[in-house]
Amino acid sequence: MKLRLKPTLWFTLYTLLRIGSGARAVKISTTQLAEILGISQQSASRHLRSLERLSMIKREIEKDGSLIHINRKGMEALNSVYHHLRRRLDEVAEEAFVFEGVVFSGLWEGRYYISREGYREQIREKLSFEPYPGTLNIRLRTKTDLERREQLERLPGVEIKGFKTEDRSFGGAKCYPALINDEVEGALIIAERSGYDRTVMELIAPVNLRKRLGLRDGDIVRVSLSTSQ
Ligand code: CDP
Repeated sequence: MKLRLKPTLWFTLYTLLRIGSGARAVKISTTQLAEILGISQQSASRHLRSLERLSMIKREIEKDGSLIHINRKGMEALNSVYHHLRRRLDEVAEEAFVFEGVVFSGLWEGRYYISREGYREQIREKLSFEPYPGTLNIRLRTKTDLERREQLERLPGVEIKGFKTEDRSFGGAKCYPALINDEVEGALIIAERSGYDRTVMELIAPVNLRKRLGLRDGDIVRVSLSTSQ
């Protein structure tokens, strides 16, 4: 992006917007403006002259200050930065919830748990799919992915409640709907009590992911989570 204004001038324009001169003419003295900006009164005065020369603002000088109103051209200069900023921030937010992990085999315990009706009925109801009995295990490889996991776990997610049967109790879990390898809609499932360390994530889906995506141990899986959750 190429700024049409020198950064310091842009920031002065932005400050004028903050004090209200976008919507109407606002009276301010160069001393007051200098104070807000943390620059000298001479510099503030110079900034206003430059912005006026560039037709970014309209200024009426009065004895105790100037009435300043940002022009259309000034608003455009502010808007162009706003749009770039918005886009970049959205990109960062989206990127924050993409994980990559390496597939590995466990002890086939996932199958036992996901086959319990106590879990199945909640998954059906809250995630709207009938889960394939099992979890696909992936191992995160980078510090960034681990930090993202921490970030993710601060979000509420979909709660799967623990329950009891005659002979034992089953712990709760949190799920996060996810798109797996840009193809299959499933969910990350994070058990309250997990035998795995924090580098491991488990995925559930309506289908056998190994078959559907042609996965073997050692393959990399990409998991994208919707940022709106
Ligand atoms: O302990 P492990 O994850 O190896 O096994 P499991 O959770 O009992 O799942 C049984 C098998 O199905 C494993 O090979 C999983 O990787 C696989 N699986 C899958 O491909 N797609 C799913 N949606 C769930 C499990």
